[in-house]
Amino acid sequence: MIKTIWWQDNQVHLIDQKALPTAEKYVVCRDYREVIRCIRDLTIRGAPAIGVATALGIALGMRALEKDDDADQKFAKICALFAQARPTARNLFWAIERMRGCYERLKGAPLGEKQESLLAEAQAILKEDIANNIRLGAQGQTLFADGTRILTYCNAGALATAGYGTALGVIRAATEAGKKLHVYTCETRPILQGARLTAWELTKEGIATTLITDNMAGVVLNQGKVDCIIVGADRIAANGDVANKVGTYSLAVLARENQVPFYVAAPTATIDLANTAGTDIIIEERHPAEVSTMGGIRVAPTGINVYNPAFDITPHRFITAIITERGIIRPDYQQSLARLMKQ
Ligand code: MRU
Repeated sequence: MIKTIWWQDNQVHLIDQKALPTAEKYVVCRDYREVIRCIRDLTIRGAPAIGVATALGIALGMRALEKDDDADQKFAKICALFAQARPTARNLFWAIERMRGCYERLKGAPLGEKQESLLAEAQAILKEDIANNIRLGAQGQTLFADGTRILTYCNAGALATAGYGTALGVIRAATEAGKKLHVYTCETRPILQGARLTAWELTKEGIATTLITDNMAGVVLNQGKVDCIIVGADRIAANGDVANKVGTYSLAVLARENQVPFYVAAPTATIDLANTAGTDIIIEERHPAEVSTMGGIRVAPTGINVYNPAFDITPHRFITAIITERGIIRPDYQQSLARLMKQ
């Protein structure tokens, strides 16, 4: 299995996603601030992986503490810094809340015990993420028949999680169940998570895939080459609106026009009932250079005006089903999400 992130020798180790697919390099974080930098600069990316990195990063930061005196203050500071790393992925904030809950249960305990328990909580979050993805995949693969031709976007694979993946987890599970699938992978401008990461994962696993540029999705759907679309999510609002990599919305509209199902696969840690609709979700805007350059090479005039939202919102009316580790839900999402989150 592809290993995205793990704890070893009191350090956080992660695969450098910026270097893939041309180099398989690993980064070692000895300080929690390095983990924050890795989240910011997309060395690690994908909502569940960001959540796991946040949990391990908080544990790493608290481990550096030698005296109990300022533990509360330090914990609050570390959490506040992680909260500023990226705004859209719900899993980052979910992980902070989990770690905070653990810390609060340890009131009055000696520092060493706090440090050990925070690390154990972070490692539990990592393990649960993989287990949830496997569960999610097992449920989701029932939606695919043998021979299904699927289109996917961005990277919602092992790299975007602690392992196995969400949308790609469903594809993996179907393949493990003996179904032969074909996956159209959209390259995903501006920074090509589809071409660089999804194509790498699928190729590594021997799952048949064809790479297309994002603007080819329409023609491929119109030619009847795709039976369904499956994507991941960065945040899901209470009404079922989904924030995911910018370009997802266009694909959902294309799916409706071409009458193919549009599936979203995500763990419940991505769902935020406090966001009543997609309009509540903060969309990160990233550096213009991601658009005006490709692989470090300038592709637009110097000084050009750039708009670079990292995510868009797909309205719930375009979503056929949401696949989670607790089950597959369908509209009315207001009700089905509320029920799911009560389980
Ligand atoms: O900017 P990124 O690469 O972190 O964006 C990631 C995505 O939009 C993924 O599709 C999403 O997190 C789902 S990952 C399981």
